[in-house]
Amino acid sequence: MKLDITPSGQACGASVSGADLSKPLSAQAVAAIRAAWLAHQVLAFPDQKLTDAQLEDYTLHFGPFGEDPFIAPIPGHPHIIAVRRKADETSPIFAESWHTDWSFQARPPQGTCLYGKTIPPTGGDTLFTNQYLALEKMPADLRTRIEGKRAVHSAKNAYAPTGFYGAGDKDRSMDIRPSDDAQAVQLHPIIHRHPETGRESLFGTAGYIIAIDGMDAEDSAALIGELYRWQTRPEFQYRHKWQPDMLVMWDNRCTLHMATGGYAGHDRLLHRTTIGAAQGVPEGQASRYGFA
Ligand code: SIN
Repeated sequence: MKLDITPSGQACGASVSGADLSKPLSAQAVAAIRAAWLAHQVLAFPDQKLTDAQLEDYTLHFGPFGEDPFIAPIPGHPHIIAVRRKADETSPIFAESWHTDWSFQARPPQGTCLYGKTIPPTGGDTLFTNQYLALEKMPADLRTRIEGKRAVHSAKNAYAPTGFYGAGDKDRSMDIRPSDDAQAVQLHPIIHRHPETGRESLFGTAGYIIAIDGMDAEDSAALIGELYRWQTRPEFQYRHKWQPDMLVMWDNRCTLHMATGGYAGHDRLLHRTTIGAAQGVPEGQASRYGFA
């Protein structure tokens, strides 16, 4: 198998052809895809006809399944959720705010696979932002203020009964299950070292980040806001345009992403799996893939 990789020309992202993801992949093919993924952070594979079982098999080439709370899986596939919006739906777009998936978990998923089934003719792009680059270009003054600090992550603003997808969220076709479990908090360093590439990256953003450990509420909110404005700047972004039968996989450890609207009157349906924490290349072996 020879992968043909075309970088997006934006801050991250590449399109990949030359692989049939419906078939079992050799160890060599998986290593080549993983190397491309680590290099480009977001990979898009157009023209892949995948069943749900094949989407699961593909995911398992890269790690165990992640744990996906608060959203019911599709029938018969406990590790797949449907990101669904009906043509006439009026609830706010799901995930239309910057985040990295499930960063409130103790061991957040290393990656996410999203497979386009019904794609509207316009709109519905997914935006990504490169958090290596955002850190690399960060003004020294801001970096000094976040250096060594840990962020407090929680799902409560989204998935608690009082949250965005809680009791007040009406007429949504996605099967979201708000819960008091969303009140739990988890600390993660704001600057972390990617376990495979060894590169430093920002991790997480306002939304799931609700405070900075050890700071008073006012200073914490101001710093989270300043960080958010920096890490989501247009020059760090990649706008992904979907096609039906396209599989996209992204690295949650060094990107943020968000959904966008602009497709009122059209259905949109994608099936999603998460790749659980670190079963990939062990730390320290990243040089195998060209990352010192
Ligand atoms: C997500 O954040 O998983 C959904 C992204 C999208 O719908 O574009």
